[in-house]
Amino acid sequence: IAGGIMKLKIAVLSSGRGSNFSALLKNSRKEDSFFQIALLISDKENAGALKTAKEEGIPHFFVNPKDFENKEAFENKMVEIVNRYDCGLVCLAGYMRILSPSFLKAWKKDVINIHPSLLPAFPGLDAQKQALEYGVKFSGCTVHFVDEGMDTGLIIGQKVVPVLETDDEETLSKRILKEEHILYTEVVNKYAQGKIKNKR
Ligand code: GAR
Repeated sequence: IAGGIMKLKIAVLSSGRGSNFSALLKNSRKEDSFFQIALLISDKENAGALKTAKEEGIPHFFVNPKDFENKEAFENKMVEIVNRYDCGLVCLAGYMRILSPSFLKAWKKDVINIHPSLLPAFPGLDAQKQALEYGVKFSGCTVHFVDEGMDTGLIIGQKVVPVLETDDEETLSKRILKEEHILYTEVVNKYAQGKIKNKR
């Protein structure tokens, strides 16, 4: 409870390392947080995020896409799990699949995503590498509402970092990731307070 208000319950979907999940979890446990993490879902059995969730006592689920006939059935399963936990928001944090319209149709509330570039520049995979190859002097990260496209949807928040002459993919990614961890919490806290509205 923050300021006497019920905290917004969120579901996190992650495919990998899970550093954004960890940052959200840590920040959700601060006294002034407006959200709490109800559960974590991963499509990868070995995801670091699953391990963290287990260690931290957060309900966690591995949903194997291979167990389902098609993407719709796979996504319906995830929506069914999220619905069990009375969540108000789904947050993609390094979830490396495109959500199909069927997820968005079954889950009628908002989905947000974090991406390691200043969208609409460099959507898709290897955003940091794309930025370096293009020669941009600034990059950063974006949190946006998810729609049917890949890394499209209304932009909610961004943070900018410089791209240095000496950068490689690793150093740039690290600089961006630090800002991702701050930005995602800021956005979810604002959303939880009803300060952000989707236009879809
Ligand atoms: C993060 O950099 C996130 O922005 C990116 O994957 C990484 C996941 O790291 N997401 C995308 O590229 C989505 N298109 P994490 O598992 O440590 O949070």
